[in-house]
Amino acid sequence: MSEKEIQRIFEEEPVPQHILDKMEEYRRKGREIPDLSLIKRPSHIEGIRRAGVINTGVLDEVAGKIHAGMTTQEIDDIVVEYTHGHNAICAPYHFEGYPKSVCTSVNEEVCHGIPSRHKRLHDGDIVNVDCTTILDGYYADASRMFMIGEVSPARKRLVEETMKCLEIGLQAAQPWATVGDIGYAISKYAVSKGYSVVRELGGHGVGIEFHEDPFVCHVGKKNSGMLLVPGMVITIEPMINAGKAGVVIDPYNEWTIYTKDRKDSAQWEHTILITETGNEILTY
Ligand code: MF3
Ligand code: CO
Ligand code: CO
Repeated sequence: MSEKEIQRIFEEEPVPQHILDKMEEYRRKGREIPDLSLIKRPSHIEGIRRAGVINTGVLDEVAGKIHAGMTTQEIDDIVVEYTHGHNAICAPYHFEGYPKSVCTSVNEEVCHGIPSRHKRLHDGDIVNVDCTTILDGYYADASRMFMIGEVSPARKRLVEETMKCLEIGLQAAQPWATVGDIGYAISKYAVSKGYSVVRELGGHGVGIEFHEDPFVCHVGKKNSGMLLVPGMVITIEPMINAGKAGVVIDPYNEWTIYTKDRKDSAQWEHTILITETGNEILTY
């Protein structure tokens, strides 16, 4: 599908009047309203859904093959082979100069870990594999944590509680709620478990581009930030740190984000569609 065709769908499939009316109601109450370009139309959603199926297939493929002793480059190879084998594209490749096709972030790496022939997975590591797939011009973005071999109880708890943070974010991502409600719910839970939440990076609108508005911070205030309107497609992808929230960027590759205190970090991500009754995960 060409960019032109994707744009034409905005004209051919207008936002339903009852949604526009409700947006206007919330605008009058002072809510920040999304641009109509952030509200996907049925044909867009079908395309993103199909990209999501491939994206899930990639992560399932990685799940079946990941093991202690392999290099993170081998994960990149698996992602490329599966994605290309399904006539899709790895969005990270050459995105803003990113050198590889997937992000593999191990232990104290928060995100944007770059696959390397020199980096091996060891027994006891936790690793996030973050895949973004483009199919027919549409994007789907998801990541999972993998525990390599025998992992310490502390790491296992971090991985499991971070998944719970994503689930709590999903529960908060209701139509006519706000982006701030998502961050509020996630950070409240994470802090109650003794963890901290990364603020500098977060979720985002997705589907027609890799990163669209809104920015979905995983720390937030109730009833603040952009209104969530049926048809919006966003990611939720909490990065949860075992220690302090501070992060630093690798000065050599200028991509990889680490915890400042070098304690562990975990992340799970889904792409979701806001519906009139709740939300639908497009990356299951
Ligand atoms: N997939 C990441 C996200 O969830 C973005 C990675 S950007 C890349 O938003 F260039 F590093 F791939
Ligand atoms: Co991602
Ligand atoms: Co994302």
